[in-house]
Amino acid sequence: MSTEAKKLIEVALPIKEISAESVRDKSIRHGHISTLHLWWARRPLPVSRAIVFASLMPDPLDPACPSAFVDALEDQLGRAKNLGDPYAPYEDIPYTAAIDKMPDNLRNRLMMFIAKFSPQFIKNEKEGKSTAAKYKLSDYSLIKWDNKNNPDILKKARCLIFIAHQAAIQKEASYKELLEEFEELYQALNDKERAYYDLLDRHLPSPKQQQALKEQETALSQFLAKMPKVFDPFAGGGAIPLEAARLGCQSYGNDINPVAHIIQKASLEFPQKYGKRMRYSLSEFEQRYGESGLAKAKAEGLLFGEEVELPNRLSFDVRFFAEKMLAQAEAKIGQYYPANEEGQKPIAYYWARTARCSNPSCGAEVPLLRQFYLSRKKGKMIYLQPIIQDKDIQFEIKEGSCQLEGWMERANLSCPCCGAVTPNKQLKLQFKERGIKERLIAVIDQGAQGKAYRLAEKRDLDVWSYLPKDIERPLESMEIGNELV
Ligand SMILES: C[S@@+](CC[C@H](N)C(=O)[O-])C[C@H]1O[C@@H](n2cnc3c(N)ncnc32)[C@H](O)[C@@H]1O
Repeated sequence: MSTEAKKLIEVALPIKEISAESVRDKSIRHGHISTLHLWWARRPLPVSRAIVFASLMPDPLDPACPSAFVDALEDQLGRAKNLGDPYAPYEDIPYTAAIDKMPDNLRNRLMMFIAKFSPQFIKNEKEGKSTAAKYKLSDYSLIKWDNKNNPDILKKARCLIFIAHQAAIQKEASYKELLEEFEELYQALNDKERAYYDLLDRHLPSPKQQQALKEQETALSQFLAKMPKVFDPFAGGGAIPLEAARLGCQSYGNDINPVAHIIQKASLEFPQKYGKRMRYSLSEFEQRYGESGLAKAKAEGLLFGEEVELPNRLSFDVRFFAEKMLAQAEAKIGQYYPANEEGQKPIAYYWARTARCSNPSCGAEVPLLRQFYLSRKKGKMIYLQPIIQDKDIQFEIKEGSCQLEGWMERANLSCPCCGAVTPNKQLKLQFKERGIKERLIAVIDQGAQGKAYRLAEKRDLDVWSYLPKDIERPLESMEIGNELV
């Protein structure tokens, strides 16, 4: 018989609370890894954080649970001196019909630490009112989006993971001893990181810089050596290793797909390596970023006397070099993307293939549209309203919901001018005989308030007349893995 306590995930999870925050996760954009690169099966971050944490926590009600860990929970999740009792289980579980008190035990407290509904949500539920997604969970919940960088809550989670892990290794150690060990390692890591990131021009090797770097790396490896290893062999978009790293674990991701591999490098490895504070002397900064960089630093309030301090070097670099590349692209090909009257540039062209109606008495040239929406966003439904006069098909742009049926169904064309159907076989024949015809219908500009939709105008079509015929194409080999292809 196993003498090891079951993990929390095997006995209980605050599913309703995790679901509420995970629904919210889908609509968060700013600062979310989903905006770095799309990955179709990426798990919500609240679920990932909850399952990693709950997989590392022994069930405190299991008789085999180490006593040091039970003591840790009593200390860390019990009534706090100045915060009240944020992890007290519900007086009345908010999602059950009956009046239902949740027993005050450590398993339930641990669940409430992962996620607990807020007093506002509980009150609203009783009154039959809805609560905005961001107010559903209590401010002390580990998985709440707003707590992703909360130093107190993350420290608590890391400390509990440390104690759970070490209590299983150092079986005789008390909570007090393990807590002291954690505090010492955690403090050393914070101190050594601060000392290293405080150095001016730390990118330039010097004995002082080498020493500070070594001490920071040692403090990090000493802390990580005492934390569990979390390995996700099918890590996809990196949600699980990201959350394991956030919880202070030694985190590893793997995937057979090279795109997933690059996403994981960009969202897990690079921010940890390069996304740190950086102090440059003015001369070093100017040498690296030139006058435009200095102007940007000034505009963003990053210039302090004779030095520049970047809160996050990676994010500054990404923005700086992206703007530089954009300016170079604008100088080279900007003239092929004419701005509208307000100086706004197009960001997308909406083209449709066209085919001729096979009815000999009609012969209208019809755009092959399955539907007419340009945007289906809630609150911004935009569609093309056809205006048909005899065989001429024009459009206007309308807002709202579109009730029109598309002209293409099961790859057959239904002519909006005469109603005749041109079957797929005939369409293919036309493509072979006359080539594929296309029509530019609409243009999406980058407006001040987001995307602006308009019909294509003469200036958009005129671009084709002055596009260079002998466009240079890159012919040099590209490096993929260790090979040039
Ligand atoms: C459901 S997705 C994982 C999603 C991930 N948890 C996330 O949050 O993004 C499954 C992943 O397994 C990867 N995969 C499938 N077969 C694999 C194999 N034999 N070795 C490594 N990865 C594999 C796929 O490429 C895919 O990214």
